[in-house]
Amino acid sequence: MQVSFVAGSIEKVKADFVAAGVYQGDKKVELGHLEARANGTLKTLGTNAKRSNFDGKIGQKYQCTLLNGEGSQDFLLLGMGQREKVTAQSLTNLAADAVKQAQSVGASNAILVLPELGEDGAKVVEDLARGASLGTYKYDVYRSEKDKSKGLKKLVVAVTTEVDAKTKKSVAQGMSRGQKVAAGVALARNLVNEPPSDLYPETFAKQAENMAKAEGLKCKVYKPAELKKMKMNLLLGVGQGSAQTPRLVHLTYTPASAKDAKKAPIVLVGKGITFDSGGLCLKPAGSMSGMKMDMGGAAAVMGAMLAVARSKPKIPVHGILALAENMPSGTAIRLDDVIKGASGKTVEVNNTDAEGRLVLADALHYATGLKPRYIVDLATLTGACMVALGPHTVGLFSNDDDLANSLLNSSDGAGEHFWRLPLTERLREQLKSDVADMKNTGERFGGAITAALFLKEFVGDNAWAHLDIAGAAMTTSESGASTKGGSGVAVATLVDWIQGMPSSK
Ligand code: BES
Ligand code: MN
Ligand code: ZN
Repeated sequence: MQVSFVAGSIEKVKADFVAAGVYQGDKKVELGHLEARANGTLKTLGTNAKRSNFDGKIGQKYQCTLLNGEGSQDFLLLGMGQREKVTAQSLTNLAADAVKQAQSVGASNAILVLPELGEDGAKVVEDLARGASLGTYKYDVYRSEKDKSKGLKKLVVAVTTEVDAKTKKSVAQGMSRGQKVAAGVALARNLVNEPPSDLYPETFAKQAENMAKAEGLKCKVYKPAELKKMKMNLLLGVGQGSAQTPRLVHLTYTPASAKDAKKAPIVLVGKGITFDSGGLCLKPAGSMSGMKMDMGGAAAVMGAMLAVARSKPKIPVHGILALAENMPSGTAIRLDDVIKGASGKTVEVNNTDAEGRLVLADALHYATGLKPRYIVDLATLTGACMVALGPHTVGLFSNDDDLANSLLNSSDGAGEHFWRLPLTERLREQLKSDVADMKNTGERFGGAITAALFLKEFVGDNAWAHLDIAGAAMTTSESGASTKGGSGVAVATLVDWIQGMPSSK
């Protein structure tokens, strides 16, 4: 789908579907010249909308087909809520809704008319473009009968007022940014949605190589023999019960100018457990189903790297994927095992289902070797985080207040919900082992915190943030820009954060 922007006169825009955003309480629907298409029946639109109680509340929709001289015209009114309360999330949902409705009536060209562009037009259009692209997202790779509808070919985002050339330029940039981010989100969703029968460490790494080749990134895949040399015994240990062997993937984006290329890099690290059965501490069936999503952190890193490759910030960005499958077998790690990972620290395994922190320990240690400006890890790490924050909120832990605040800020800008949780030092005690430097699991209460405290042991004194995306990596219902299944959460926030960094400009 092609998305473009038009301001001022919009009568020439070819559109077989007209959507209009309406703020709550606004009396008039702003359609400019398009009113003519309703051939005087726009009044009917207004009256009918009112009759069905449409008053612009957020998420409200009113759709109708009006007959005019030439035939019929599909109209859709979309509630935008109160003017002062517009958010990135409401805008992405608005555009996604417009696209979905247009597709549902078989339209090929649609226009989405806004009441006004607002102060930060570039940002508004960026959010709309992202939402519009995600509105077309579907995952039917494994369906014998594919959706044959052609889908929407073009969407024009429009305002009926003129805008100056400078605004037009920045809006065009916003439009392009939104689409790049959407491509990253869609990639992360695809990876999460792919079944573990086809997506395992080897094939995940292959996809990373293919993506890197297509987007101009560097990609190095470490196989078991090399991982062994690198002493990545925690990553190897988690994978040793599976017929599918682990991989560590290192993606690198280097900015074009030599000066920028020398800057200390941002390193993103993703937990990539392609299936988490729990290992010998086998999960009950109810908790095991859905565990193909346990590579959601690695998927988000892939998505972010794709968007980074396309948006070319002026700072190096690395993506590290720690890929393994956690299975029970005669070769699986046991409870009581003590493993010495790449950092040299020894870990006593007291729960094989706390595998994410083990693979991350080796990957985080590897990240410290890159002399990073910041390390950010993403992981579907704990059920406890989900219990604490619910299914949509990302738990953020950090040893650096500025880093934490800038990530929170970007999550707001991206329309995602992040919430900072504490690294309560007092709980560190729970990780003490009788035989090794530490054990991998603490007690039930505070489980998201002890997991984060475990990771902290492997980042040295680097500025680091840990994002627990256990709840948000999957969506269970379809609405606006989010689709059932993989959510691609954190991709938009990371890209916003990287682009907004003073040193990336
Ligand atoms: N992958 C799970 C965490 C998870 C749970 C993600 C639910 C998404 C939804 C992780 O590996 C795990 O099993 N964590 C355990 C830790 C426990 C054994 C200390 C958990 O949360 O129960
Ligand atoms: Mn687990
Ligand atoms: Zn897991």
